[in-house]
Amino acid sequence: MLKHDVLIIGGGLAGLRAAIELKGKCDAAVICKTYPDQAHSTEAQGGINAAIDKADRYEDHAYDTVYGSDYLADQDAVEVLCSDAPRVINEMSEFGVNFNRTTDGKIAQRAFGAQKFHRTCFAADRTGHALIYSLYKKALELGVHVHNEWQVVALATKAGKVTGVIALDRANGQFLPISAKAVIFATGGAGRVYGKTTNPENTGDGIAIAYNAGAEIMDMEMVQFHPTTIRGTNKLLSEAARGEGAYLINSKGERFMKKYAPEKMELASRDVISRAEAMEIKEGRGVLGDSVYLDFRHLDKETVMSRVPDIRKNAIELLGIDILHEPVPVQPGQHYTMAGIATDVDCKSSIAGLFAAGECACVSVHGANRLGGNSLMETLVFGRRTGISVLAYIQKRSFGEVDGKLVKEEEARAKKWMDNTKNSELMPRDIRLRMGKLMDEEVGPFRDENMLKNAISEIKKLKKEFANVVVSEHSSVFNHELRAAYETFFMLDLAQCTAVSALNRTESRGAHTRTDYPKRDDKNWLKHIICTKGKGNEEGSGPVLSYRDVKITRFKPEERKY
Ligand code: FUM
Repeated sequence: MLKHDVLIIGGGLAGLRAAIELKGKCDAAVICKTYPDQAHSTEAQGGINAAIDKADRYEDHAYDTVYGSDYLADQDAVEVLCSDAPRVINEMSEFGVNFNRTTDGKIAQRAFGAQKFHRTCFAADRTGHALIYSLYKKALELGVHVHNEWQVVALATKAGKVTGVIALDRANGQFLPISAKAVIFATGGAGRVYGKTTNPENTGDGIAIAYNAGAEIMDMEMVQFHPTTIRGTNKLLSEAARGEGAYLINSKGERFMKKYAPEKMELASRDVISRAEAMEIKEGRGVLGDSVYLDFRHLDKETVMSRVPDIRKNAIELLGIDILHEPVPVQPGQHYTMAGIATDVDCKSSIAGLFAAGECACVSVHGANRLGGNSLMETLVFGRRTGISVLAYIQKRSFGEVDGKLVKEEEARAKKWMDNTKNSELMPRDIRLRMGKLMDEEVGPFRDENMLKNAISEIKKLKKEFANVVVSEHSSVFNHELRAAYETFFMLDLAQCTAVSALNRTESRGAHTRTDYPKRDDKNWLKHIICTKGKGNEEGSGPVLSYRDVKITRFKPEERKY
């Protein structure tokens, strides 16, 4: 049986950074569903936050992060994030990232939402792309071992400890047992649970696999909606636009943010702006029925061409709009999973030997609302940290057994989907599209009890129907339908956890807005909701909920205003 001391699942920034940390210290390998240069990290555009200016302090970065999180972030984790951030910028610069520079050669920083300092380092509007290419180059130079095109479908455990994973080798259709002393999940978020999302790839596999194996997952009701996704495709239109001075207008040409966030305007937090847009649209001041405009026409051409060239390119390619001459229609869309596998600051999950970092993890640095520019930093800070933590863990461990039964179970699951051809025409994508629409409509920026109860009952029906899903493609070579069947199977669980947690949290905090409970309620809800898989058949009885106190250290909760 194949074995590695450490398996890192996911080849994006968090996974690669963990692998670099472990290189030469143990036998570690990365398993990547596609290739590292296609990881979702490439999609992050506007920048990465660090207090590197002499006039800034990491404590101020931490304060902005906690305030932005509506006090749901764990402050010990935020402190780790913000204090390590300047080191990360130096390191990535040494690894070759072409950060924009000021005329005197310093790394340039732009304004990003809900921060009191221009703290966001950037490489034009393709920062994630620049970071991953430099990190991947470094990983290749060091000889990091990557298994490309392997899809992990299950975690193996014995006596409550991780012993490895089951992966589908997509090139030949074989399910492989792989033994490991420890497993790191760095598998990204679950954006595709929604229909309107900026995430082309993120299907939440790691979060769902951990949940299925009994791990605690946390803050599932906390979904970030980005205020500027391009109408129609929902491709991300980076916050860099507003950082460089673009502003939002409604159908009357009004800068409506002055009503909702008079001080910060377009640089308020993402939850506040997304709700403001939704309100303008609902009250009939939207454009094209479902959008508002983002206007760049007052900016000078040099700023647009040098600072946000990809935004201009994307608007031309997707909508035929040149932002130099016309405003672009944008709408809120799912952007980021603030939830994930619950971990401590050393990236340990509730299962011994399972670690997590990046968007699939919930160490809780984002709480109820993430600041733009903090996610890239999270991947690199906690990617490295999980490498350090896992190395200490494996010192006292030997390899455990990966039960052969697990491979048989996955073979039987895939066979059942393929055999369904005889009595059903229901494709995984039919279920995924219905789930996405349901989540957009009922578990979006505004929620109430009726909407959430309806969502929960519809998700249960979708899960039941999924039992009859068909994988009509029978090839063992790169079977895309089989891949999609697994992804939808995983996402249904996560959709259920999101809706159930959202119904449970009877308050409004950050991105979670309950119109029937419009106020933040610190007395009852300064706590995280944890989901653990309930017992039941394959359709599942849904999550069992429990609670964890928020870690509050130096910043006492205040009312949040922008
Ligand atoms: O808008 C953006 O460029 C996104 C950045 C982020 O989500 O951190």
